Amino acid sequence: MTEQKPIEALSRLETDVLLEIAQAGDSNELEALRIAYLGRKDGRISAILRGLGSMAPEDRPVVGQEANRVKAVVSQALEQRERALSGPAAESNEDLTLPGRGSWKGGLHPVTQTVDEIWHIFRDLGFTRARGPEADTEWYNFEALNTPLDHPAADEQDTLYLVDSVLLRSHTSPVQMRTMETHEPPIRIIAPGWVYRRDTYDATHTPAFMQVEGLVIDEGVTFVDFKATLAEFARRYWGPDTQTRFRPSFFPFTEPSAEVDVKRVITHPDGSKEETDWLEIMGAGMVDPAVLDNAGYDSERYTGFAFGMGPARIAKLKHGVDDLRTFFENDVRFLEQFAR
Ligand code: PHE
Repeated sequence: MTEQKPIEALSRLETDVLLEIAQAGDSNELEALRIAYLGRKDGRISAILRGLGSMAPEDRPVVGQEANRVKAVVSQALEQRERALSGPAAESNEDLTLPGRGSWKGGLHPVTQTVDEIWHIFRDLGFTRARGPEADTEWYNFEALNTPLDHPAADEQDTLYLVDSVLLRSHTSPVQMRTMETHEPPIRIIAPGWVYRRDTYDATHTPAFMQVEGLVIDEGVTFVDFKATLAEFARRYWGPDTQTRFRPSFFPFTEPSAEVDVKRVITHPDGSKEETDWLEIMGAGMVDPAVLDNAGYDSERYTGFAFGMGPARIAKLKHGVDDLRTFFENDVRFLEQFAR
């Protein structure tokens, strides 16, 4: 026997075992490989080392050295694979000192966040969420709401008609009637959604915008419930020092009607406080008995109140945004400030 044979066997063995280690899928397979090659009793490398004694004395050092080298290579490969399997960060060819790549962080649109904040406050006050179609009929958008079709709001110049008597709703108030038709009092709903008007696209108007409608109908609902509910909403949204003002107004479907304004108290970084100007946040009022009659409700028995607010204007105020159009431009640099 020459020294060539055990050397060749060792080099074939080295290639095989490294391949098998690389393919091992878990630590059990690695342990089986360790026993098959390095095991004291039957391990193939151990057997070669044990056979040294029966070799020609001049072959022993060469074969012994090579067998020990392969043994070290195999132990190291087993350890490395073990680490790689227990965590990708342990891969030796990764540079762990590289700075991390920032991950994408998705988020809700600031106006959607505002709708959710508004609706969560009303949910805590006992309201349910409702919705209605964005394309609706003249009946639901105007007539059911006590608004005759010769009213300026019903003019084709002001609304977006799709076909005769079907239009993109100009407010979320049609959800009032749709809810009353399918439910009996007591009713307490919040109905957020898109509305459409022939408005120019500028810093303070957009032809499509969100509204949040509210409706309460029950026996014995008074103007006090109306004011108290909206004042409580304002305090929960802007803080306990927020004041609320009801200015007389007109809507065909509420009587009396009001524009609701809030005056907030801002706390500056140095701790000093400042009152803001009055800001209009919604149209509202006691539901007109004619609307209750249209719903088939007994208007002698039931009373209620309704309101409609614009969450984009509220978000604009809250975040100090000066142009409503930025909410529509899908500029990620603007939007990602609100991701949370
Ligand atoms: N629908 C009215 C608007 O869009 C707002 C409103 C809702 C007023 C409910 C009173 C009651 O301007």
